[in-house]
Amino acid sequence: MKQIRLQINEAWRTGWANPGQTLLDFLRNELNCTEVKQGCGKGDCGACTVMMNGVSIDSCLTLALQAEGAKILTAKGLGTKDNPHPLQEAFVEKGAFQCGFCTPGMIISAKALLDKTPKPNRDEIRRGLSGNICRCTGYKKIEEAVTSASERSSEQCDDRELKD
Ligand code: FES
Ligand code: FES
Repeated sequence: MKQIRLQINEAWRTGWANPGQTLLDFLRNELNCTEVKQGCGKGDCGACTVMMNGVSIDSCLTLALQAEGAKILTAKGLGTKDNPHPLQEAFVEKGAFQCGFCTPGMIISAKALLDKTPKPNRDEIRRGLSGNICRCTGYKKIEEAVTSASERSSEQCDDRELKD
């Protein structure tokens, strides 16, 4: 076992990790970040997606020890109930989930996409979310939510520019 220290949603946390332990297992079972979901456990479903140092990754394919000193963002760190992220607002407004199991990973992949491509077209959205499986919604509402969030984010930027 080795003690590791990492930042999760801007708070420094420490925990004990085994050499072969995945980041997914460490986040869920050592640090109680249960918003990070365990699906396939082998890189196929995207349920476990988090951002590590600004890049989206499958936490089931990453060792906990690789995250020493890293900045991890989970869906819980994107916004709060009172101040949700545009993606979180858009997913709710568009009804882009049913059971919700895929949603935390889907939203993090969407965030990674919008960070790189602020106004993605439909093909770019499909490509950006191609690693995330949803067994309930059929993806149309998810695509609509990401489009709506991208429009909302650029409106917020425009408003800020006008005020500045
Ligand atoms: S649990 Fe990691 S990709 Fe499915
Ligand atoms: S909402 Fe159920 S798996 Fe996506």
